[in-house]
Parts: sequence; C-alpha cells; structure tokens
Amino acid sequence: MKGLILYFSGTGNTKFIANKIGEEFIKNECEVEIHSIEEDFDIEKISFDYLILGFPKYFEYIPQIFMEFIEDNLHYSESEIKTMIFSTGKDKLQTYFDELEKILIEKNFKVILTTNFKMPNSNILSREYLDTKI
Ligand SMILES: Cc1cc2nc3c(=O)[nH]c(=O)nc-3n(C[C@H](O)[C@H](O)[C@H](O)COP(=O)(O)O)c2cc1C
Repeated sequence: MKGLILYFSGTGNTKFIANKIGEEFIKNECEVEIHSIEEDFDIEKISFDYLILGFPKYFEYIPQIFMEFIEDNLHYSESEIKTMIFSTGKDKLQTYFDELEKILIEKNFKVILTTNFKMPNSNILSREYLDTKI
C-alpha cells in the first residue's frame, strides 16, 4: 500500500504535520510520498492507493491555491481512492471541507476522515510571542 501526501504550507506548520503523518505511516511499514503543491513534480507519474491532503485555514476557508491545484492536477481515478483531509489552524475548530469533497467525489476520491490540527497562528505575531523573543 502506498500513500501520497499533498500539502500547501505558507509558513511551515502544515509541512510539519505532513511530515509527522508521513513518519507514522513509515513506522507502520507503509510506503509514502510527500509533496508540497509548490514543488515541481508530475502527479500523473505517481501511483498511490490512498491520498492525504493538508493545508492551513485562511479565514476558515481552504486556500484558493490548494483548491485550484486539486481541480487542475488531480485526474479521475479508475479505482476509488480513500482520502483523508487535514487542516492546520490557530483554533481547534473543525473546518467544513464540503467544496473540496465535492471535487474529490467527481474524481472518484472518497473522503473517509477529516481533521484539524491546532497550531501556532501564522496570521499575527502576538505581543506574548514577541515578549518571549525580546
Ligand atoms: C491570512 C490568514 C488567515 C488565517 N485564518 C485562520 C482561521 O480562520 N482560523 C484558524 O484557526 N487559523 C487561521 N490562520 C492561522 C493559520 O491557519 C495557522 O497558523 C496555520 O497552521 C498556518 O499553516 P502554515 O504554516 O502551513 O501556513 C490564518 C492565518 C493567515 C495567515
């Protein structure tokens, strides 16, 4: 079984989680390939049995760059691919991934798990954060 982890990360939080998930799969003897959508790679050349998608929450939304990547680059799969979606955000709150799920269903990717990881806020440098650095 081989997995593909695709992520977008503005400031590194999502990349960190993507790599952690990858490490867990490897520990469990699953082959995994990890790519940022900003890398120069051809998704068509990668064969995989399951897919994991990750991105940061931007004002509770999925970043447009990620939606466009999936729409344009992920092609219809002849066999149904089990898919997990995760977001990272400053809040614990779960995000709704309906719009992304709709695109995935049309391409024969079945979402079986969605989750959000609470991470440091990349939107602002808080006073508290700055105080620890001064
Ligand atoms: C423009 C912007 C908007 C954000 N909006 C939210 C939000 O609505 N909810 C939330 O929990 N976090 C929000 N955040 C925080 C990021 O989602 C969070 O820090 C994320 O882990 C950053 O991931 P990255 O380092 O992979 O880019 C926002 C960050 C930015 C820069």
